[in-house]
Amino acid sequence: MTQDELKQKVAHAALPYVKNVGIIGIGTGSTVRHFIDYLADFKADIEGAVSSSEASSEHLRKVGIPVLDLNAVGTLEVYVDGADEINPLKQLIKGGGAALTREKIIAAASKQFVCIADGSKRVDVLGAFPLPVEVIPMARSYVARELVKLGGQPVWRENCVTDNHNHILDVHNLNIVEPIKLEQIINNITGVVCVGLFAARPADVVLVSNGEEILTF
Ligand code: 5RP
Repeated sequence: MTQDELKQKVAHAALPYVKNVGIIGIGTGSTVRHFIDYLADFKADIEGAVSSSEASSEHLRKVGIPVLDLNAVGTLEVYVDGADEINPLKQLIKGGGAALTREKIIAAASKQFVCIADGSKRVDVLGAFPLPVEVIPMARSYVARELVKLGGQPVWRENCVTDNHNHILDVHNLNIVEPIKLEQIINNITGVVCVGLFAARPADVVLVSNGEEILTF
């Protein structure tokens, strides 16, 4: 199976988690795109979705699912999203699609976070995937210097402006042995909007497609 077929397969496996849930949270990325495609078949049962990016909002509208404002709907029952890395504690690196801040907001506002990914995303220790950090544009160089002090090598994701009009630094060479602590430290750097470490609020359920089987933990 190709990586995209694995993404499609795991997206399909997440459908039972949104059965009879009126309003759902929706993440961003190629795995979630497959999930939205499947949702189109169930749109009669779905009141709407809170979306983590302009790209997902556009796709949701295209398949006929109303996009709702989180402020108007309150706590969400279920949030479905992908990840760039997943450790055995269900802690994640996210933000490869530059949507980390809205993704983290929806995860925080949801009772159950269902993470869907192909098997290549599983790791023992987070950090081989460069850690995305969303920053206020004028703080980019300052934040980069602070990240170097933490042992990382930040690289500006040029030509990328987030949906919140900010910039992304991708931090290479981090061996993240204490994810909750590092999440706190990076979030406390002035000028950081959000770090793509989802450790204090990890996923609740992870579905991973490995060949023919779906691993759930
Ligand atoms: C976007 C994300 C995505 O969930 C992550 O990049 C995984 O994407 P894909 O499903 O395309 O592999 O965090 O900001």
